[in-house]
Parts: sequence; structure tokens; C-alpha cells
Amino acid sequence: MTVHFIGAGPGAPDLLTLRGRDLIAACPVCLYAGSLVPEAILAHCPPGARIVNTAPMDLDAIMGECARAHAAGQDVARLHSGDLSIWSAMGEQMRRLKALGIPVSVTPGVPAFAAAAAALEAELTLPGLAQSVVLTRTPGRASAMPEGERLSAFAATGATLAIHLSIHTLERVVAELTPHYGPGCPVAVVYRASWPEQRVIRATLATLVAAMPEGIERTALILVGPALAAEGFADSQLYAADYDRRFRPVRARG
Ligand SMILES: C[S@@+](CC[C@H](N)C(=O)[O-])C[C@H]1O[C@@H](n2cnc3c(N)ncnc32)[C@H](O)[C@@H]1O
Repeated sequence: MTVHFIGAGPGAPDLLTLRGRDLIAACPVCLYAGSLVPEAILAHCPPGARIVNTAPMDLDAIMGECARAHAAGQDVARLHSGDLSIWSAMGEQMRRLKALGIPVSVTPGVPAFAAAAAALEAELTLPGLAQSVVLTRTPGRASAMPEGERLSAFAATGATLAIHLSIHTLERVVAELTPHYGPGCPVAVVYRASWPEQRVIRATLATLVAAMPEGIERTALILVGPALAAEGFADSQLYAADYDRRFRPVRARG
């Protein structure tokens, strides 16, 4: 018996990995994390599966479900939105499961920031403009930020920022970033990336707040940085005709 943690992707049911789909189909128990895991993904559960929405449960109750399945010898598919490596609460569940001697596996998923970048048709690391992407958030009711992880500290690097869990505090985000990136810096908000109701708002730091339509809340990402609207960036060396590299040695040609 194993608890399989599975990244369910950003929302579109066909952005689930094949491995994730096959594991869900093989597990008689499915625990899924609330409204961000679409119903269509639950349709991969086998007939008669026990399917439980864990959104209203606490950690003890979720562990109770896992322990019950363990005692019955039933594999569990544990679904979280996006990928499991960021803001999934997998860490605390894994720690408890390991203490109970319950085997686990982890299957990655498509994270929301990748789906948002796809919606923008954007490469977030453009030569000469940004070579780092910071996945971050602002403090929440239940989660303080560690000292040193302030938004302004990341902004000082000029990297592309993908700011999660923060759309409700957009004005404060803009105020904190503007001194570093400047008011003309391109920004985008992607609401429900990959869902049918996906919306994209492009603006600058100066115009974003006024450009926000009604009803954009919760499931939205704020992307900030010069790479977001750049046209005049240099080509990378990767495909340069005179760039000698292992798979395309210049000497071998001509
Ligand atoms: C608890 S975090 C989960 C992140 C997830 N584990 C991932 O890999 O993307 C939830 C936050 O991710 C962002 N998010 C999740 N799904 C999204 C989507 N489809 N479109 C835009 N933002 C999304 C929002 O900022 C939301 O507040």
C-alpha cells in the first residue's frame, strides 16, 4: 500500500501527466484538495472508488483516511493542484506518513506559473533581461514570510517574479515593486490559467490596479519583470550559427 502524491496540474484536465492519470485509475481511494482539482480529473478514479474532498478536513482527519486505507491495503491517490513542490502542504503530510511507516511516492504536475506563462505565450528568462524566475508570495493569515524573503528584496534583483496567493493585496504588491522595477515595467495577471474562464490582464506597474476588472480574485498569478513585454532582446547563443557546441560543432560543418 502506498500514498501516491500527484500534482494535478493548473486546472485543465488534459494537463495532468499520463503517470498521474494511470495512478489515479489504479487507486481505490482518492483524496483531493478542494476546488482547484477539476471534477474531470476525478473521472479517472476507478468505479466504486472512495473519493474525498479534503478541503474541509484537518491534518489529523486526512491522516485518518490514509491510516484506514493502509489498514485495508488500499493505495491512495493524493491530489494537489499544480505541482507538489510549492505550496501543496505535502511536507507535513509526508512527515506524518513516514512516521507511521506508510510508503509514499511523488508524481510531479504542471505548476500554475508555467500555465500562466503559456497563456502569455512568454519565455520568462530572456537573454540579457532576466535569467531567474522567483516563485514567491506575500504573507498570509496562516503563513508569515521568513525574514529576508521580502518582495522588495527579490525585486531588487530585477528577476521575473511570479507572485502567488497575493491577488487580494495587489495594491500593496504594486507599491512595493515600483521603486525597484519602475512604473513602466510590464506586468500581467493571469486568472485561472488553463481553465475555460481564464483571463489575462496585461499592464504596467503604473496602470495595473486601474486595469483590473471586477471578479479577479483568489486563483490568479501576478507576473512582473522586463521579460514580460520585451521585443528588443538579444538572441541566445543556443541557435547562433557560429556557436560551437557539442551537438552542433561548427568545425564539422562547412
Ligand atoms: C496554494 S497555491 C498552489 C500552487 C500550486 N501547487 C502550483 O504548483 O502552482 C495557490 C496559488 O497558486 C496560484 N494558482 C493556482 N492555480 C492557478 C491557476 N490555474 N491560474 C493562476 N494562478 C493559479 C494562485 O496564486 C493561487 O493563489
